[in-house]
Amino acid sequence: MEFGFGTMIEKLKKDPKTIVFTEGSDPRILEAASRLLASSFLHPILLGNLDEIEKAAEEAGYNIRGARIIDPENYERFDEMVDLFCELRKSKGVTPEQARKTLSASNYFGTMLVKMGEADALLGGATYSTADTVRPALQLIKTKPGNNIVSSCFILVRPSATGENEVLAMSDCAINIKPTEDDLVEIAGETAECARVFGVDPKVAFLSYSTLGSGKGEDVDKVRNAAAKAKERYPELPIEGELQFDAAVAPRVARTKCPGSEVAGHANTFIFPDINAGNIGYKIAQRLGNFDAYGPILLGLNASINDLSRGCNALEVYSMAIITAALA
Ligand SMILES: CC(C)(COP(=O)(O)OP(=O)(O)OC[C@H]1O[C@@H](n2cnc3c(N)ncnc32)[C@H](O)[C@@H]1OP(=O)(O)O)[C@@H](O)C(=O)NCCC(=O)NCCS
Repeated sequence: MEFGFGTMIEKLKKDPKTIVFTEGSDPRILEAASRLLASSFLHPILLGNLDEIEKAAEEAGYNIRGARIIDPENYERFDEMVDLFCELRKSKGVTPEQARKTLSASNYFGTMLVKMGEADALLGGATYSTADTVRPALQLIKTKPGNNIVSSCFILVRPSATGENEVLAMSDCAINIKPTEDDLVEIAGETAECARVFGVDPKVAFLSYSTLGSGKGEDVDKVRNAAAKAKERYPELPIEGELQFDAAVAPRVARTKCPGSEVAGHANTFIFPDINAGNIGYKIAQRLGNFDAYGPILLGLNASINDLSRGCNALEVYSMAIITAALA
């Protein structure tokens, strides 16, 4: 199965996008930006002090000529940005002074650049926490029409000896701490859509510690009900639940625990019951299963904004920038 990276780059070559990096002087961002600048399908905007960024790039040996550098402290449209911010946060009674202070931080400033159409997408989180990267997007960009929540998925890719990549989607491993039944339904629909972008033909498993009634408890009921609602809402999508992980991926176990299911034994899109399970689950696949993890990719948001892990390297920044821009 192709991992849709090449397709994404081709798409961007036809329609290049602008992406803002909130941590403009971080060496990993500078390395990724210099690599992006060497091709022409993505235009980086680096946020921060011009001298600091240029010095950091020179010291690290990265050529960032051609990158747009914006310093929140002397941005020509800052007054306009403050007005728009106050308008967007009017229900919270934000004053212009508060707005100016908030917008001096590059996570809020960068998100407003997307809101104002100066950038198509944003990638942050090399030093900001997930919460600090995501919160401005939740407050200012909001969910897209028809969605109730923003959620996230990880795309896991394991190259095989035959050259065929094994590609899986896992959700929600990063945003919603205790998703409700209805949240899980929405997460499943969004994740299946995202999985398709990466060349996955989604087979969706709602995961639990129980397979079709083998275990009891409130959490099992939540997952079972969510799976039933999802089957109704997305009749074209192969969905099964509740399933234990082995029943979801191992055909032999599936034949015993869940015979006759189109999904059980062959699932490739996993909906976890909560963030504990999801976050631990994708990291097990990454660290013990030799999968590369791309994400969290935010789902249900009105613009393409993504969060890096603070432990990321430059290659991960580069890959996430392409994914983020291609989804814009
Ligand atoms: C995402 C997260 C930061 C939001 O928390 P928060 O900022 O405390 O959220 P709040 O309840 O104060 O809400 C802030 C705004 O975001 C909105 N919001 C919160 N969660 C949302 C969601 N899942 N979808 C859409 N909007 C959401 C709220 O409605 C609120 O909007 P408003 O200010 O316009 O009223 C929080 O859910 C979180 O910490 N998740 C886990 C992150 C994490 O640690 N992940 C693991 C590492 S990858």
